[in-house]
Amino acid sequence: MSTVVNDEKIPNNVNLAGDKKLQRALEAWQPNFINWWKEMGPYGFQADDVYLRTAIAVGQEGWAHFDYVKMPDYRWGIFLADPVADRKIGFGDCYGDPVWQEVPGEHRNTLRRLIVTQGDTEPASVEQQRLLGHSCPSVYDLRNLFQVNVEEGRHLWAMVYLLQSYFGRDGREEAEALLERRSGDENKPRILGAFNEPCTDWLSFFMFTFFTDRDGKFQLLALAESAFDPLSRTTRFMLTEEAHHMFVGETGVGRVVERTAHVMKESGKDHPDDVRKLGAIDLPTMQKYLNLWYSLSLDLFGGEVSSNAASFFATGVKGRAKEDQYEDHKALEGTYRVAQVKDGKLVEEDVALRTAMNEVLRDDYVTDCQRGVDKWNRSLEAQGISFKLTLPHRRFHRHIGLYANLFCDPAGNLVGKETFDAKRDEWLPSEADKTFVKSLMQKPIYDPKQMASWIAAPRIGIKGRPVDFEYVRHGDV
Ligand SMILES: [Fe+2]
Ligand SMILES: [Fe+2]
Repeated sequence: MSTVVNDEKIPNNVNLAGDKKLQRALEAWQPNFINWWKEMGPYGFQADDVYLRTAIAVGQEGWAHFDYVKMPDYRWGIFLADPVADRKIGFGDCYGDPVWQEVPGEHRNTLRRLIVTQGDTEPASVEQQRLLGHSCPSVYDLRNLFQVNVEEGRHLWAMVYLLQSYFGRDGREEAEALLERRSGDENKPRILGAFNEPCTDWLSFFMFTFFTDRDGKFQLLALAESAFDPLSRTTRFMLTEEAHHMFVGETGVGRVVERTAHVMKESGKDHPDDVRKLGAIDLPTMQKYLNLWYSLSLDLFGGEVSSNAASFFATGVKGRAKEDQYEDHKALEGTYRVAQVKDGKLVEEDVALRTAMNEVLRDDYVTDCQRGVDKWNRSLEAQGISFKLTLPHRRFHRHIGLYANLFCDPAGNLVGKETFDAKRDEWLPSEADKTFVKSLMQKPIYDPKQMASWIAAPRIGIKGRPVDFEYVRHGDV
């Protein structure tokens, strides 16, 4: 197992001290990162003690340490999963060849672009969430928000390590640019659409961590298969942290659903207006938020038919999630059925499997999302409520790929712009919905003993601590 060094400026298990040039480059980037964190990280909580998990090793057991830390003092480190001895390329044209420890010249631009695109999402989400602390439903949730935020910061470190180690001067420039773009900024936006959308209420935050972080999980799973071994090892360890982000989303939405179901059952009322009056979020509104964040996240997988995706697979830079589950690792023969739009009609067509790799990854993602939705529906059922949350069709509200600029209803039927516009407020959060959701969250809850009216308490706390533990010691309460 690789040795972990925690007493250096930058904790790491990559023997940073043995590479002075790289160490200097990363130590030069570090203060810029901290400045970015102070400017764009959680606003108003930087001086608070927060009970946080910090990665300190990469083994299955005991990889993290829990304690109070002020966020700017968080020990962001560089951790790669342990190497797999004699690892071979698991897919594509070079199937069975040894993996690459350096970047092959012909794949340099592609790999750099993939790493920058992944890296860009990490600080972007911190920026999107920077004001959420001021409307938190509980101290437990406030801590989870900050946990996600610091770990997205560490994921940025992970990508910057790769850029600085393997891409020379270009990599250093990209590392700086990652701190310069800003989520939602017209002049210097983040690279991907969903990461420029405002995420300014907690229902959006939970939907984001469920749907958008889950895109991250599948991108990381696909990159974990990469023939570029350092990328594979980096992303494998990021997945360990990512699991908690999705836990926050799944249980977060689950607790909102549970609370609403409870309020509906207690009161015997199910009209959305009545549910709102009782201080809970009505189920149709939740469905609209789900529609929004799910469709934005589907876009992150890219076009349904993509020559880029085919070439990533062929060359070995990016694979399928859990490649081991497949028998044919070359995917040269197979086809994939895609609905294309021809003369205003949907027509099913078979395309070469390699060109459909984005869609293959999206399939895995949809299945994983459905599992979470089923769980929420079971909790509605348990309260005797017949309303079911559903994933809209993947053609609904898309901005990338074959279905961009089309107008489909949540069932996936082409409906035309007029119908879509007329129905928009039934399918996606309206201004009135957003105003209502925000009105519930005007007052933050900084007392560890309290929980907001619109969300159920979690079953258990963090790391064996009680739910009402003082996870954040917020100064100006
Ligand atoms: Fe991340
Ligand atoms: Fe994440």
